[in-house]
Amino acid sequence: MKRDTNVAQAPSPVQSPRGGEAGVGAPHLRCIGCRRLLEDAAPDFRCPACGELLEVVYDALDSDVPHPEAKPKAALASSLKTLWRDRKLSYAPADLSGVWRFRDVLPILENIDTAVTMREGNTPIWSLPRSARSAGVDQLHAKHQGMNPTGSFKDTGMTAALSVAHERGFKWVGCASTGNTSASMAAYAARAGMNALVLIPEGKIAWSKLSQSLDYGAVTLQLKTDFDGCLRLLLDLVNRFPIYLLNSLNPYRLEGQKTAAYELMEQLEWRVPDHVIVPGGNLGNSSALGKAFLEMRALGLVDRLPKLSIVQAEGANPLVRSLREHGGEKLEPVKAETRATAIRIGNPASWKKAIGILRATGGECEEVSEVEIAAAKAEIGADGIGCEPASATTLAGLKKFVRSGFVRASDSVVLILTGHVLKDPDYTLDFHRDQLGIPLPPDAAQLRRPPQVLDADVESVVRVLEKVK
Ligand code: F0G
Repeated sequence: MKRDTNVAQAPSPVQSPRGGEAGVGAPHLRCIGCRRLLEDAAPDFRCPACGELLEVVYDALDSDVPHPEAKPKAALASSLKTLWRDRKLSYAPADLSGVWRFRDVLPILENIDTAVTMREGNTPIWSLPRSARSAGVDQLHAKHQGMNPTGSFKDTGMTAALSVAHERGFKWVGCASTGNTSASMAAYAARAGMNALVLIPEGKIAWSKLSQSLDYGAVTLQLKTDFDGCLRLLLDLVNRFPIYLLNSLNPYRLEGQKTAAYELMEQLEWRVPDHVIVPGGNLGNSSALGKAFLEMRALGLVDRLPKLSIVQAEGANPLVRSLREHGGEKLEPVKAETRATAIRIGNPASWKKAIGILRATGGECEEVSEVEIAAAKAEIGADGIGCEPASATTLAGLKKFVRSGFVRASDSVVLILTGHVLKDPDYTLDFHRDQLGIPLPPDAAQLRRPPQVLDADVESVVRVLEKVK
């Protein structure tokens, strides 16, 4: 493979093999069920003993390991903060990445110079004044993960896990997807010169996401099933064909995704918000962000945790039901249906991890209707930001949290917007043309701005402008 400038080659300003002096020690894979440590993962990333998912743990952050010589917390935290800030002055590819800049807390590569990176992360945080008023909170911020290279948060996880696959010499990577994982994987595989297999549910992903995976040259198969069916098939396939699995069952994906929380805290000058709200689909992202907050507290980077809450669509609400009907002890898959196709998932792989995070942070899990999603998406759009439908569940959920009293008006709240507004233009057009097929309440309907066809004369245009309030 011919290397180019987007594949990190330059030495890091601070040599930190496997985390180095300021880092967290060697990574291990551990089962979240029986807590057994594994040398390496099976192709399906399940524990061979009990079938549960794996997580990446580090010696210095692992409560199972004693740390007699641990650097005092305050000194370690301050040296990490300085190191990460200083790296912003560097042009080394790994330092330009908003993921690998934090490599001290994800020392998962033998050689950082092999990272396949496209300057992912580095996403903005913006205030949402209009949406704040509508939700009834004094201040509201959004961290827009849709501003990643392929338009979704998946890039932060993809650079991590695909780099592991690349370093280990895999030729093929594969994923089942509702569209964003596949777009991201296809792009990163192409950058690394690897083959990509994408499995997507036929007719159930946004066209723009499908077009991305085609453009980046992936083998794209539209299977006559849903996301859950695609994932089942892929898990079967990886046992027969040397494909490296890049769904979020792969714990290295979550290591990359967790860096969004580190970056968020850096952007907030390490002042912890009261609430962070995330959409929930396969539940990898909520688990990843929660893991990061727990690690940051263990490292002394923050002194408390935000309440991390998860919002699902009513038609794809298996986690909500699990908590409501079984106290979070059991999850019964549902037949998922929602126009927020990114989170049209009925059998989320990482539900146990997500429940652990809700419990550890004191967050809540909520469901929102199609009408609430549509209204919230239009409001985020009217703030000049925009997002894809799945991301808008966060604002819709916040409104419910304010009504229930879980979020107070004076609380600081950050919404994690996961996908770019251009990911699903059909949805946006259908909203504005009133073709979503759902009755919109008056406050949402007044946000509709359908395109108008006019004769090309100035008088007609003036008449339109005079009617705008
Ligand atoms: N938001 C967007 C835009 C997504 O694409 C996804 C997941 C989620 C939220 C939910 O994140 O699964 O970690 O709970 N999309 C996956 C995909 C499933 O295939 O692109 P999660």
